[in-house]
Amino acid sequence: MTPRLQDWASPRREWFEQALQALFADSWPTTFGEMCAYPLRTGGKRMRPLLVLAAYEAVARNPRDWKPALAPCMAIELVHTYSLVHDDLPCMDDDSERRGRPAVHVKFGDGAAVLVGDALLTEAFGVLTRASGLSPQQRIDLMASLSLAAGHKGMIGGQAGDLALGGPVVDAESLLEVHRRKTGALIRSACEMGTIAGAGWPDERAALVRYGEAVGLAFQLVDDLLDMDQDQGDGCPPSHPEMVGVEETRDQARRLLEEALSVLEELPGPVEPLAKLAHYTLERTF
Ligand code: IPE
Ligand code: IPE
Ligand code: MG
Repeated sequence: MTPRLQDWASPRREWFEQALQALFADSWPTTFGEMCAYPLRTGGKRMRPLLVLAAYEAVARNPRDWKPALAPCMAIELVHTYSLVHDDLPCMDDDSERRGRPAVHVKFGDGAAVLVGDALLTEAFGVLTRASGLSPQQRIDLMASLSLAAGHKGMIGGQAGDLALGGPVVDAESLLEVHRRKTGALIRSACEMGTIAGAGWPDERAALVRYGEAVGLAFQLVDDLLDMDQDQGDGCPPSHPEMVGVEETRDQARRLLEEALSVLEELPGPVEPLAKLAHYTLERTF
């Protein structure tokens, strides 16, 4: 992150991080609570909650009051973290490390990792029901956005595509469709939830959804570029750069960045953080 994005992100990250870490303090059994807290403690870029906040601040009447955005920040990171815990399981991508630390299933066993993922996912919706500073309608809208993004038409649909449950992914357009769902849907929802929490107008919400779709797809294209040296394992579809080439993938990601930036002109509030997060998506090195 550039120093100026870091200046914006650090206090916000610290703020939602505290709430996130406190979530599983009273789980039963206590040791299971510690297992649930483990993947939340192991770092990560926190891109999705930062997008929630950036979208929120671009539309909210009082962008300095972050509180209405806390529940969606936590919920989106809970869903994202659960997806990684399950994604690393031996029956999925079979990765033993995540964020430089042992994956949950390596540390606590496969059964524990399944349950930790289940608990994080369930808690995400619990957090939204308990959200303070939001109307019942806003809470319902947040849950609708997140469940659509996380479920069979969104992230899980994308994961099913990745496992070739809809047949082998052989062309670039089908692969983009997998990317839009597997990664794009949650990033889109982060932006949408920020506008819901900030009580944005419908046209602002639509604009931020378009921004989220562009950033979400670019994020996964860059991920493919960054993962190029890594063995993706048996059964995975070829990556986007393998299908269309590195230069074309970079060009597509650049075009998506331009698209995301062009949307920001339509928004009333401060859009610099959204612009910087879009740039960061392209320039990130991990
Ligand atoms: C990793 O997501 C998986 C994808 C959706 C590409 P991130 O790159 O956001 O992972 P963390 O949270 O920063 O570790
Ligand atoms: C991670 O996807 C899980 C989801 C996007 C839901 P990937 O398998 O592409 O990402 P890494 O390489 O494990 O981080
Ligand atoms: Mg994986």
